[in-house]
Amino acid sequence: MMTSSLLGERDEPFAFLDPGLLVDGDLTLTLRICLPGDPARGWAPSYEFEMRHTERGTLLGHISLRIGENDHLLLYAGHIGYEVLPEHRGHHYAARACRLLLPLALRHGLETVWITCDPDNWASRRTCELAGARFVEIVRVPPSDVLYLMGHRWKCRYRLDTRPWRKPHPEPLANAQPKGR
Ligand SMILES: CC(C)(COP(=O)(O)OP(=O)(O)OC[C@H]1O[C@@H](n2cnc3c(N)ncnc32)[C@H](O)[C@@H]1OP(=O)(O)O)[C@@H](O)C(=O)NCCC(=O)NCCS
Repeated sequence: MMTSSLLGERDEPFAFLDPGLLVDGDLTLTLRICLPGDPARGWAPSYEFEMRHTERGTLLGHISLRIGENDHLLLYAGHIGYEVLPEHRGHHYAARACRLLLPLALRHGLETVWITCDPDNWASRRTCELAGARFVEIVRVPPSDVLYLMGHRWKCRYRLDTRPWRKPHPEPLANAQPKGR
């Protein structure tokens, strides 16, 4: 693993970091693969983790951390995506996994991570809240975005500060508005 973050230094290649040990009680995140992304197509580099039971090693689900700041990520796809296998739901694994990833996001220079979900995905919306994220807005997915082609028309946007000591502050509305609406 390389040891420096290059987010923001656009001319240099992206460097993945060693995420270290990511454990919260019975939940352990195991790095499965690092995907380099494809800047030409707007795809950000991502860490792909498995959620596993700490003692038993059972697969519980998956979570991704995408590192980037393009409109597709910030407005529609979000930095974090997750899924818990149906038989392991009910333990807040997704929310807890999100929190485990915050130090890694911060080491890449992300002071805020955005999590998005469909407005009727109540389990995911509650997961955002449990992770400590704040609801900001619901945005329309434009036809130009790949998520539109996948059938998504609206996305809820939640913001989550990566610095644990930062207190909630009034939303800077000008910054939270998507461009071109
Ligand atoms: C979203 C998801 C990852 C959450 O899994 P999880 O971490 O096991 O979450 P839990 O089952 O512990 O539920 C978390 C919270 O959501 C609530 N919740 C779960 N299903 C719900 C539903 N259908 N309606 C309303 N609330 C719901 C739970 O009650 C819990 O809140 P509480 O503790 O305050 O009662 C899981 O439902 C999933 O994998 N869904 C399919 C994939 C997906 O939608 N991913 C997100 C894409 S944006």
